[in-house]
Amino acid sequence: MLDLFSEIEEPEREELKRLRKELEEANYKYYVLNMPTLSDREFDEKMHRLQALEAQFPDMFDPKSPTQHVGSDLGKKGFEQVRHKYPMLSLANSYSREEIEDWVRKLPSGVEIVCELKYDGLSISLWYEHGVLVKALTRGDGQQGDNVIDNIKTIPSIPWKIDRTDIPEWFELRGEVLLPWANFERLNKEREEQEEPLFANPRNAASGTLKLQDPREVARRGLDAYLYYMLGENLPGTTHYERLDTARQWGFHISNAIKVCKNVDEVMAYIAYWDTERKNLPVATDGIVLKVNNLAQQEELGFTAKTPRWAIAYKFPAEKQLTLLKEITYQVGRTGVVTPVANLEPVQLSGTIVQRATLHNEDFIRSLDIRPGDRVWVEKGGEIIPKIVGRADRNDEMSATASLNDGMMYSFPTTCPECGAPLVRVEGEAAWRCPNETGCPPQIKGKIEHFVSRKAMNIDGLGEETIDLFYQKGLLHNIADIYDLKLSDIAAQERLGEKSAQNILDGIEASKQVPWARVLFALGIRMVGETTAKKIARKYNTIDALQWATAEQLCAIEDVGPQIAENIVAYFNDMRNLEILERLRQAGVQFEGEAEAEPTSDKLAGLSIVISGTFSQHSRDEYKALIEAHGGKNVGSVSKKTSFILAGENMGPEKRKKAEDLGIKLLTEDEFLGLLGS
Ligand code: IVH
Repeated sequence: MLDLFSEIEEPEREELKRLRKELEEANYKYYVLNMPTLSDREFDEKMHRLQALEAQFPDMFDPKSPTQHVGSDLGKKGFEQVRHKYPMLSLANSYSREEIEDWVRKLPSGVEIVCELKYDGLSISLWYEHGVLVKALTRGDGQQGDNVIDNIKTIPSIPWKIDRTDIPEWFELRGEVLLPWANFERLNKEREEQEEPLFANPRNAASGTLKLQDPREVARRGLDAYLYYMLGENLPGTTHYERLDTARQWGFHISNAIKVCKNVDEVMAYIAYWDTERKNLPVATDGIVLKVNNLAQQEELGFTAKTPRWAIAYKFPAEKQLTLLKEITYQVGRTGVVTPVANLEPVQLSGTIVQRATLHNEDFIRSLDIRPGDRVWVEKGGEIIPKIVGRADRNDEMSATASLNDGMMYSFPTTCPECGAPLVRVEGEAAWRCPNETGCPPQIKGKIEHFVSRKAMNIDGLGEETIDLFYQKGLLHNIADIYDLKLSDIAAQERLGEKSAQNILDGIEASKQVPWARVLFALGIRMVGETTAKKIARKYNTIDALQWATAEQLCAIEDVGPQIAENIVAYFNDMRNLEILERLRQAGVQFEGEAEAEPTSDKLAGLSIVISGTFSQHSRDEYKALIEAHGGKNVGSVSKKTSFILAGENMGPEKRKKAEDLGIKLLTEDEFLGLLGS
């Protein structure tokens, strides 16, 4: 009987473990890497499910479960870590009137509720001692945070000093650090020009900015902050609202969008008003926060392990609009991939006008069953790139071409929209591709643009427009032509005087010093990115050696799988590429580099080492290689033969328990590298 039960329970126990892992990872990606993988809603749903399963299986309680602590943004180097005087908790989320009503039902009857905007940035805790700002702490793991005071001092609305005698000796103000929309857009524009990765949203941008080690750059980016919570002892006032009002009088930046509500109807009216009005605010908001106004009542209600009972967040639904899909156009990239783009009737969404959105590939279009003439739903969540998430019913009279589309099937073009070559679709790939690499204009220009880009050959002065012009004039057809450009040819072009012509030539000359690894990246071999190129160049320190490598040999390099290996082999089998390479060689481009000596020793000889968790300084594979290079053996599971565990963040609880039971030592990343003397 018992066995039968545990068999039935087994899938749920497995689900519990899987959810813990998934949420740990999501927290790590959100807080540490700044790259959210789950939407707030997905995260909350998974968290609720995990809570339910943990309630069902109390024997599986684990204090390290994501239900028991807030995520962490700790681990950034260079900042002092300070323990919070009061833990920095998170808020429970709600998404509907019903959920708000459920929360209100648990409060004393007749409570006043303060409604505030929920600013979408990152929380900060400011400590004032004798009126002087002495610390500015990030949330960190909720218990301790990074002191980012030098960066916070760049925010003009945060006072460094308050000249008043009626303030407590020590108090703390918490709030949200934000990058206003305008500054966010300017920053991303600059990054686009510099070919740096764009920030997905202002929250990520603010977070990345706050962790910079250079306050001058922080100041340049222009952060702002809103404060919403005062803590300390012997503080003035008996309500939250009064406290914020006092803070405002002391000179702090407190939002004016704060309202004391007496019932759920008033709360819903506040929500309805701000759901629209927030689009006119200079900063991002993603919901509202409801707080019990009376401080004595707040104290009575207290906290759960992660959230106060006296406050709750309400999240606005992601903004969606219906608009007309006027036309699908096709963009051809430098590798020949043809990407469908939706051209929309312009529509206002979360503060910007949207008129284009990617449709990714043929399968995506088919899965949504959309065609030109349909009215489609465009959604903009926390990310800046709008998504098409569905279409309106074609029988809906609002649909512009309701009958026109009936019974028609969407079909992807069969020939390249740029050069007319028949498109090919590689087995197992979603993309259609134009195979006419050397005759298709966007591919030719795209390859040249990639070659001269900053992370590749870094040739100043040769931008997109100039490349287009030189292509039109017959001066550039491939990357080798760059090294044949003459001062007179360039200076003869409109808009380009002798000075800019010389500039371009200087850039071309300087590119001959670019190291081999970057040259390899610049060649634009399909799927050979910057990091992969580095790894390949380390192993094959001349192009001649690389040219003769077999796919099998290439696969032995970390990060190089069969597909990349195939692409490299195919590249060197193409005579046209060999001709170009020969011309580049004649021009003096670096096709040789120093082979990096692999560190070797027998420091770990005879040791069996388990790797567990996630790491910040090297990848798991790199650690594996390091262990082997120093004579050790990397093993998968913990046993009494294990010498020690190289333990990263979020190490699996089972491994940790087993290690504890067997008395096996855990080494952090730093300790391990220290051991190797690196
Ligand atoms: S009060 C103990 N008020 O939302 C609760 N938080 O999802 C203290 N946030 O960590 C938070 N606007 O970073 C509060 N008006 C507001 C807020 C706000 C944004 C953030 C804050 C918090 C997160 C929870």
